[in-house]
Amino acid sequence: MNTHAEGAPVAQPESFAFTAENIERAKAHIAKYPKGRQQSAVLPLLDLAQRQSGGWLPLAAMHAVADMLEMPRIRVYEVASFYTMFNLRPVGRYLLQACTTTPCWLRGSDAVVAACESKLGIGVGGTSADGLFTLVEVECLGGCVNAPILQVNDDFYEDLDGASTEALIDALRAGKTPPPGTVLARQGSAPIKGKTTLTLMPEPPAMQAALLPGAAGETAKETGDAG
Ligand code: FES
Repeated sequence: MNTHAEGAPVAQPESFAFTAENIERAKAHIAKYPKGRQQSAVLPLLDLAQRQSGGWLPLAAMHAVADMLEMPRIRVYEVASFYTMFNLRPVGRYLLQACTTTPCWLRGSDAVVAACESKLGIGVGGTSADGLFTLVEVECLGGCVNAPILQVNDDFYEDLDGASTEALIDALRAGKTPPPGTVLARQGSAPIKGKTTLTLMPEPPAMQAALLPGAAGETAKETGDAG
């Protein structure tokens, strides 16, 4: 199960209105497109609506977007139900998106998912009893170089295993936000065991050495010039 329409019916708020700040943001997105093509702004407006609604898209929010862009509601539903980054049912404060595509799977995503499930007492698609966490399984997040990846809201946590996933959940539950990125002692995507190339300064080739300041040839040339 994902955070789309499957499952029990969701209690829907009766209305939705963009905040004054989000109206300005929406207008800025709409202004990027030619007159009459304002519907092209549907994705960023849905994103704004989802963030304002606490991480999911109620029907009323989709209707507000449709009205603002003067497009049929069904066209907005089509977009929102196609892209998995839009959630059509409520999610926890922390949306945990575990990548289980091949590179992450080969690097241990099973342990990441198992740690989430056991720590939170839920399965994939579930929300923890305290309402803090929702766990979903996703396809490649584009961070394979530091697999396995767990996306938490907008942040990537990388190079995880079971223990580091549990520690991450403990920190989030305690209200802390660990720095995103790799949990290993490496810089970005640099090799875990340090550099494997360009580790030594090579001896300069003979011709290059001859041209270096202070080289014998240059000294001889200077001497000759002086004479
Ligand atoms: S396979 Fe997980 S980030 Fe690409």
